[in-house]
Amino acid sequence: MYEAIPVKKDIFWVGANDHETDLFESLWPLPRGVSYNAYLVVGEKTALIDTVKSSSMNVLIDKIEAVIGKRPLDYLVVNHMEPDHSGSMKVLKAIYPELKIVGNAQTKGMFESFYALTDDIVVVKEGDVLDLGGHQLRFHMIPMVHWPETMVAYDLESKVLFTCDAFGGFGTLDGGIFDDEVDMGFYEDEILRYFSNIVGRYSPQVQKAIEKLKGLEIAVIAPSHGPVHRRNPAKIVALYDRWSRHVSECGAVVVYGSMYGHTQRMAEAVARAMAEEGIERIIVHDVSRSHVSYVVKDIWRFRGLVLASCTYNMTLFPPLATLLEHLRNKMLKDRLVGLCGSYTWAQSVALKSLLEFAHSGGWELVDPQVEMKSAPNRAVLEACSLLGKNMAGRLKACDGRA
Ligand code: FEO
Repeated sequence: MYEAIPVKKDIFWVGANDHETDLFESLWPLPRGVSYNAYLVVGEKTALIDTVKSSSMNVLIDKIEAVIGKRPLDYLVVNHMEPDHSGSMKVLKAIYPELKIVGNAQTKGMFESFYALTDDIVVVKEGDVLDLGGHQLRFHMIPMVHWPETMVAYDLESKVLFTCDAFGGFGTLDGGIFDDEVDMGFYEDEILRYFSNIVGRYSPQVQKAIEKLKGLEIAVIAPSHGPVHRRNPAKIVALYDRWSRHVSECGAVVVYGSMYGHTQRMAEAVARAMAEEGIERIIVHDVSRSHVSYVVKDIWRFRGLVLASCTYNMTLFPPLATLLEHLRNKMLKDRLVGLCGSYTWAQSVALKSLLEFAHSGGWELVDPQVEMKSAPNRAVLEACSLLGKNMAGRLKACDGRA
């Protein structure tokens, strides 16, 4: 079938690859694009599971027609209303006037507020089944993964679970769409970046969703972004489970904000000491140049975090302050934190701000906190080394508990 790719008998991927959007949600870089996965289920009745962003609408429409020809599209199941998935629904309703739109009580209000759609709406609740004839879709609510109205659809015949944002990730599907056709090393990194930046704040709700879905027999996990998991659907669930429990790996992220390189030298002294103590996985980010989405992703992965900031206009260096705001918003927990601050004429500002951040997040501090005036001297570098050594000791002590 041209472009519409069979997932299971009478179930087709009819999604689109977006290489043109630079920033997902106008926030998160997409160096290798993103896919909007929509799925067509063909029984006696036909149902589309989610749509695509409006910019990819024509691709979706072509693929639907390639599968069903002149048959009507009977149902649109809206698992989630964010416009990367709902963006084509108003036009689809115009093309298929008899189309019934399936959502839950919360979705219904959004049909109207986003698209002024009020007719032909089928409201479903937890456990309801939509019988297509040959396929039966059962709905389960997974609120806040990623919005309050989010739900999943489970096909009782094929055991395909259509999960929308849950278990999704960045990156277009370049030929292969299944986990057994693509380089999952790349995708797992992009799935973590997606999880940590988009869904991670709602980790408790992810846990509830995993708990709710764990009784299902799942042959395929079909998310709305990234690969379709048919070889190893349990693996992606396990990864989401681990990340949403804030389980970390033994390693450290060092993030510095430095105008003239002096604070960078503090960060590098800490990193060097950790390496000398045997920590192999150390990632150093210049917060002015690494996009915050990559920094957050790495912090989500590793247990150790070292923050080093200069003072700027009597506050934290702005890009570092932005990172901390993102981390507060994501509500990441259970990390070891080492702190370095520098100043020339506004003593204690940077370090005090970093300490306030660490205390407010309930993170575990590793001593010593290091403060530097203007440029590093021997005493400062020795203190940074001691911080690195202590951090390495704490990391090695927790290695294996993940
Ligand atoms: Fe992929 Fe929350 O939208």
